Amino acid sequence: MLNPRHDAMRDHPFRRLAELIANVTPRSNEPHVMLSVGEPQGQPPPLLAETLARNSHLWNRYPLPQGTAELRQAAKAWLDRRYHLPPAMVDPEKHVVPVPGTREPLFMTGLIAVPEEKNGQRPAVLIPNPAYHIYTGAALASQGEAVYLPVTREAGFLPDLAAIDTQLLERTALMYLCSPSNPQGAIASRDYLKSAVQLARRYDFWLAVDECYCELYDKEPPPGVLEACRDLGGGMERVIVFHSLSKRSSAPGLRSGFLVGDASFIQRYILMFSYGGTPLALPVQAASAALWNDEEHVQETRALYRANFAVSEQVLGRHPGYFRPEAGMFLWLEVGDSPAVTKRLWAETGIKTLPGAYMAKPGPDGTNPGAPYLRIALVYDPATTESALRRMAKAL
Ligand SMILES: Cc1ncc(COP(=O)(O)O)c(C=O)c1O
Repeated sequence: MLNPRHDAMRDHPFRRLAELIANVTPRSNEPHVMLSVGEPQGQPPPLLAETLARNSHLWNRYPLPQGTAELRQAAKAWLDRRYHLPPAMVDPEKHVVPVPGTREPLFMTGLIAVPEEKNGQRPAVLIPNPAYHIYTGAALASQGEAVYLPVTREAGFLPDLAAIDTQLLERTALMYLCSPSNPQGAIASRDYLKSAVQLARRYDFWLAVDECYCELYDKEPPPGVLEACRDLGGGMERVIVFHSLSKRSSAPGLRSGFLVGDASFIQRYILMFSYGGTPLALPVQAASAALWNDEEHVQETRALYRANFAVSEQVLGRHPGYFRPEAGMFLWLEVGDSPAVTKRLWAETGIKTLPGAYMAKPGPDGTNPGAPYLRIALVYDPATTESALRRMAKAL
């Protein structure tokens, strides 16, 4: 027998996408372009391969779950620079742990943060709707009930914190937020993040903030939840933040990120991880430290996404469903029936996108807030992006 709680994991968006287009062969002779996955198609900076090579004598060593002091220090130094934190706020020994990308820890957080009951009730895991599907996976694998918070264009594509019912907050064990958000590229303000931290502390739940797109911004650097913590006195109680090199350094294959936040959670994470996690190999940790210490390649990466957004504005700016996101790597384009449009675009143009319907769940009234949108990943160079978007625009 298999655990039936996990059955709903079949709703994985890429599984559903594969099913949707399984019997469709594109009629176009032009090259197929995958705008469905947020996988950077550019190469990471040479610094990565050079540092791996310089540390190749370390492949024979077992890495420890808490990571190397060098990588934890590089993460702390980057946080202090990026978010203007006082030096005493983040202690790399207590508050930071390297992780093999952020997907795994986002998932494991459900196992750590959700008790069997809270205030005598079934615990709730609050998840923006739509969102990255791993948050739902975390709720399904834990004891919790996934409760979806509607995210609308009118409310700036972020959950309305003031609208969450008090009874729900009392049984909430964990809340996920993502800023800049996948899929919409919306940025939570510092005030919004402060309210979220205050809510987590008042109602005694864990606030998991996924900031893996924080370096891909158009104009101003998005605020981070650690700035909110700083403004509230400098403690990180109840807050866990997820940072990744996958987007910042175009290195999803490296599987490298880190967690920072509440010391008690980080220590519990290291304990769990020492049973069921795979620490980063030592050459990977050395390369990760070098990447966090370098800003030059990140400026180039940002310029690439900025150029892609500019191209998208030229090509699709007049489409009634278009808006230019503030950050991230995705367009969130309103098109109508997103699975039908995805299938038609694949058939007619050989361009694959992700139906927004598959990134969201139907609300209590049966409406799926993602249903009218396509998620389009602008992960190629600007010339490829432009040609793919022109092919799409004709078909739309
Ligand atoms: C919102 C969000 N969080 C986390 C991740 C996980 O990235 P990684 O595991 O490569 O750090 C992704 C990947 O696409 C994502 O979109």
